[in-house]
Amino acid sequence: MTTTITQRFEAAKACLDAIDQGHVLKFYDELDESEQNNLLTEIEGIDWPEVAALVKSHVLSKPEFAVPDSIEPVPWYPYNETKEVRAKYIEARRVGEKLIKEGKVAAFTVAGGQGSRLGWDAPKGTFPATPIRKLPLFACFAEYIHNIQNRFGVTIPWYVMTSPLNHNDTVAFFDEHKCFGLDCKDIMFFPQAMFPALDMNTGKVLMAGKDAIALSPNGHGGSLKALYTSGALSDMHQRGITQLSYTQVDNPNVRMIDPLFLGLHELDKAEMSSKMLPKAYPKEKMGVICIVNGKTSVIEYTNLPDELAEERDDAGELVYKCGNTATHAIRIDFIEKLNTRPTETGSGGFALPWNRAEKKVACIDMESAEPIEPSTPNAIKLETFVFDALPLASASIVYETDRIDEFAPIKNADTPAGEEPAKDSAESSKRLQTERAARWLEANRVKIPRKDDGSVDAVIEIPQITAIYPDDLKGKKLPSKIEPGAEVLL
Ligand code: UD1
Repeated sequence: MTTTITQRFEAAKACLDAIDQGHVLKFYDELDESEQNNLLTEIEGIDWPEVAALVKSHVLSKPEFAVPDSIEPVPWYPYNETKEVRAKYIEARRVGEKLIKEGKVAAFTVAGGQGSRLGWDAPKGTFPATPIRKLPLFACFAEYIHNIQNRFGVTIPWYVMTSPLNHNDTVAFFDEHKCFGLDCKDIMFFPQAMFPALDMNTGKVLMAGKDAIALSPNGHGGSLKALYTSGALSDMHQRGITQLSYTQVDNPNVRMIDPLFLGLHELDKAEMSSKMLPKAYPKEKMGVICIVNGKTSVIEYTNLPDELAEERDDAGELVYKCGNTATHAIRIDFIEKLNTRPTETGSGGFALPWNRAEKKVACIDMESAEPIEPSTPNAIKLETFVFDALPLASASIVYETDRIDEFAPIKNADTPAGEEPAKDSAESSKRLQTERAARWLEANRVKIPRKDDGSVDAVIEIPQITAIYPDDLKGKKLPSKIEPGAEVLL
């Protein structure tokens, strides 16, 4: 029996009226049939009992972060191969490389965020990131994947999570660039789910128009569900993938597939693991990886109490210094287990905690239907975070990485020319990319011009298709020195 649009309307109305959100249908009668259909489809895609519960717990009241009863620093595998770890690292590298060669590893990029801090009016992955070629972030990742494919003689499937807001533009960008030379059939795009923005004073769902709810992506925690519901996980099964290498869209220097990290994760039978960076200073905007009530967890920087952020040990080191780089190795069967395990309601699945953020959200006035562009936050957006799945893993390792080698994120808009670059901006990222290139060249006996403050007096770019480690430059034709002020693309 097919459901008529009138029946769908009645069902939606009953559901919304029951939780005091009936205004969502206020303009329904003014819409044409296709607009009515769109609005009903949006309504049917939302878990309204969950919205009602979250209005109470996260909008009309503000959940306070409870400092856990038991919190301790997490142990980690060091970046430097000390005597103690050398044998393990040799074995881990062998295991990681074997996984890759056997085609068991896929790359996963979460690119569903709105990138509002960057002020880039297109999917963030299209942002020109490298210092000389201005290669878009997605193209940087494609070069990295190319390098790994050539190195190990294997295909690395690449899964890209978008959101309904940027999905079509993202796919069109890859089409336009012919998948950056990768085989398009090995790149899969799928959108994450959305969640309504809620009026921060009343908890009412905001409307983007008469026929549309103001929706935004439900956080990168949504990836763990979207991987399952989109069919990406089944695709991985068919391809024989067992491990997913999870990275964010904002970091052009990220090692998307790292044999050593994957090998350590596999050897220690971890279900979900993380790469960390020692925080540069107590208030650096990085989540802190630590052990909470016996489980590896991340406390987001916004929640970390000052006394913990600033606590130092006898040697003067930060006690909670494991900064979350948002790079994870995740077993496929762990994601599957999360999605299929029994819950209290017996429906199967899992729930990550919701996080509340006060944001400016464009919407319409519910009396006049006039558009509102708020200048101060008017809404609560709710998101789940992928790292909140860490405590659900039976085992988890943390591996240290190097800031210059692997962390040059682009998150914030540039400051005006001449000013010190904003932290995590395009300009700071370009300087870090140049610094990395300079160090790798210095390791290969190329003389690099440096200013009094030690920074590189040149702009240098090494395509990741050429090198993802300094040793990759061995045997390549390199200049003996770089001239001050030069722009050098190798
Ligand atoms: C993030 C981490 C922080 C970590 C830092 C390292 C969070 C909440 N915090 O901060 O612990 O130290 O990176 O750089 O993630 N995304 C989606 N869908 C969404 C929301 C985000 O795909 O609904 C993606 C974005 O496209 C981006 C990534 O997740 O690739 C990061 O999101 P963002 O909210 O910008 O986190 P950060 O504040 O950068």
